[in-house]
Amino acid sequence: MSSSTTLYGGASGRRVTVRDLAAAKERGERWPMVTAYDAMTARVFDSAGIPVLLVGDSAAMVVYGYDSTLPVTVDDLLPLTAAVVRGSSRAMVVADLPFGSYQGSPQQALESAARFMKEAGAHAVKLEGGRRVLPQVEALVSAGIPVMAHLGLTPQSVNVMGGYRVQGRGQSGDELMSDAKDLERAGAFSVVLECVPAELAQRVTTSLAIPTIGIGAGAATDAQVLVWQDLMGLTPRPARFVKRYSDLAGEMDRAVRAFADDVMSGRFPAPEHTYT
Ligand code: KIV
Repeated sequence: MSSSTTLYGGASGRRVTVRDLAAAKERGERWPMVTAYDAMTARVFDSAGIPVLLVGDSAAMVVYGYDSTLPVTVDDLLPLTAAVVRGSSRAMVVADLPFGSYQGSPQQALESAARFMKEAGAHAVKLEGGRRVLPQVEALVSAGIPVMAHLGLTPQSVNVMGGYRVQGRGQSGDELMSDAKDLERAGAFSVVLECVPAELAQRVTTSLAIPTIGIGAGAATDAQVLVWQDLMGLTPRPARFVKRYSDLAGEMDRAVRAFADDVMSGRFPAPEHTYT
């Protein structure tokens, strides 16, 4: 994967930093981000050259089986983040601040983010929202914590948005643009744009010096992110913006049925799987 090899800092062997991502934007180099929630998948994605791994609060659904991101807590996400850090050696690991862990005040955001940095070894945090979280972004950045922002469809606000729907059409596009500029001024090092019209994502991308990371935001953003279970074909009904690169659900179904057949017929374990 040539694009991410450059981002990986050549032969230095160090982790990707916010400076690398800023430099990639200056070079016009696009990069991929995927979610990760455990050490083994983190290792696979890291050695494939994925420069940024996000421990998303999507873990609420894909790891913990909830039907929204709202129930997941800092204590739920900390061990997943620590596992992803342990399983990777080159990627920047970004921890999602879950619902209720930062909206209250800049102090609350600082306490939550500090736990991810100190207890799990995260390299940055992500939080959702525009103008209403600017004081939080400023507090984190001045405490030395890199912040990835998140605009457009912000799943933690699903109840206010009235569902998971495209955001930023019409006049709300101007508000999103102004939020993006404010977040950049507040010190965010990047911004996720989720489920927004491609034309708006393109305008935001050209207006900001920091990288934009699209998910359902068209092709013009500086980076693209997908939840790994979506891109691997493990999620039963993925959103329209997902491209499946594998049929992992089908492959796992085939494998586990073959195992069950072998057990029931006595073909497994064979002599080569047996100690004498
Ligand atoms: O939680 C998550 O996985 C995310 C991505 C979809 C950007 O926020």
